[in-house]
Amino acid sequence: MNVVVIGTSYVGLTIGISLAFLGIKVTCIDIDEAKIEALQNNNMPIYEPGMQELFELSRNQLTFTTDYEVVGCSEVVFICVGTPTLDDGNPNMIYVKKAADQIGNHLGNSFTVVVNKSTVPIGSGNWVESLIAETFEAKHGFKPKGILTVVSNPEFLREGSALHDMLYPDRIVIGTDHPMAYQVVYSLYQSIINQSFLPPPHLPRPDGFGTVPVVATDPASAELIKYSANAFLSLKISFINEIACLAEKVGADITQIAQGIGLDNRIGFKFLNAGIGWGGSCFGKDTAALLAFAKEYGLEMAIVEASRKTNYALRQKVVERLANELKLLKGKTIGLMGLTFKPFTDDLRDSPAIDIAYKLLQRGVRVVVHDPIAMERAKKEYGDLPIKYVGNPEDLFEDGAAVVLMTEWPLYQKIDWNNAASKMTNRFILDGRNFLPQQAIEEAGIKYIGVGR
Ligand code: UGA
Repeated sequence: MNVVVIGTSYVGLTIGISLAFLGIKVTCIDIDEAKIEALQNNNMPIYEPGMQELFELSRNQLTFTTDYEVVGCSEVVFICVGTPTLDDGNPNMIYVKKAADQIGNHLGNSFTVVVNKSTVPIGSGNWVESLIAETFEAKHGFKPKGILTVVSNPEFLREGSALHDMLYPDRIVIGTDHPMAYQVVYSLYQSIINQSFLPPPHLPRPDGFGTVPVVATDPASAELIKYSANAFLSLKISFINEIACLAEKVGADITQIAQGIGLDNRIGFKFLNAGIGWGGSCFGKDTAALLAFAKEYGLEMAIVEASRKTNYALRQKVVERLANELKLLKGKTIGLMGLTFKPFTDDLRDSPAIDIAYKLLQRGVRVVVHDPIAMERAKKEYGDLPIKYVGNPEDLFEDGAAVVLMTEWPLYQKIDWNNAASKMTNRFILDGRNFLPQQAIEEAGIKYIGVGR
């Protein structure tokens, strides 16, 4: 089977490289020539753990191009382009439209399944199909009847563990009313569903991992499953953060509360880590889209709205905590450990650290930052931020009035706390992820405050 993947970001590359590893011939297309050239020269344009290794293992099954010609001789075409947020909360569908137009222009005469992986509003499957059909008809003078169908197959890939989530997923959702298209997509994933592939050495199969459940559904339900999953995860985090605020007031410990409620199977432990809240390219974008979409139907989604409100307020709360502790913020030096929205990625989109850096700068703080992999990207994307970058995390403490942990990168647990204490003007650490070794920090004479404890 020949497969085309349009879009070579986190999602497109994860899918393309993984399918190639499973023995499928994959062509990855992107309009960004620089990205394609880098990939042709075996350079990864993004950082994702294990991707470079998997890429090397599957290289001979992969082709990279900016040319859509190959669509004409492919059975499956994945759309994995970005859908960034517009000012009104709706996703910007311009890249999906461009991809659809190109598919329509290059579609061949044999049955082609277009698989939509991009997170798109409910009903977009029909819309994409009509766009492709329109372009096809304009070119050929007849409709692509019986040779085209669009399937919704949402992705549930977490950045930082995208390859693991691709090869060992909790479920696969296939949204289509077309039995043949269902079979095509099912067969593409068969070795993942049955777990019959030989795992790559660096991504071993988790112990006891068995057959993957498949949710066979209609396109609209598949599209809504994606939004609901992200909205639910976001509100689980916002919920624990709301309880953390109360825990602080009454002297309770949120980590123990999370354990106490997480032991209830109906609740579960995952996504109950309190801290400075969620960020990234997905939760903010998808919850905003859900609200905007519901509004079109005259619906208010009070719970989803509250999840966002609680989350974004946490960023201001960090500044207030620092002001409480340090009194005057103006002119003080504050170090930020980590810039990305989570560890093991170089993605800075909607990162709490960036937002908090801006807020601190507005208050006249001298901001010093460290991140193990995202500093070059930050300099490029946030060149206007007058912050100081340091290559060694211990330099964050130099003349520091406080240091805040933003991202739980393991290297921050290994700081020499005595050395750090000796460099600080005021010894205060705010652990925004309840991640640092409290006892060692306190033994070094540094005041430690976590979240909700
Ligand atoms: C999220 C979903 O988890 C994926 O299933 C989904 O496919 C993806 O969005 C997407 O729509 O493409 P991702 O944004 O990569 O994945 O990252 P998560 O691991 O979900 O973390 C999101 C944010 O929540 C991070 O800022 C993280 O630090 C924060 N978080 C997570 C918490 O604050 N507490 C937790 O307990 C868990």
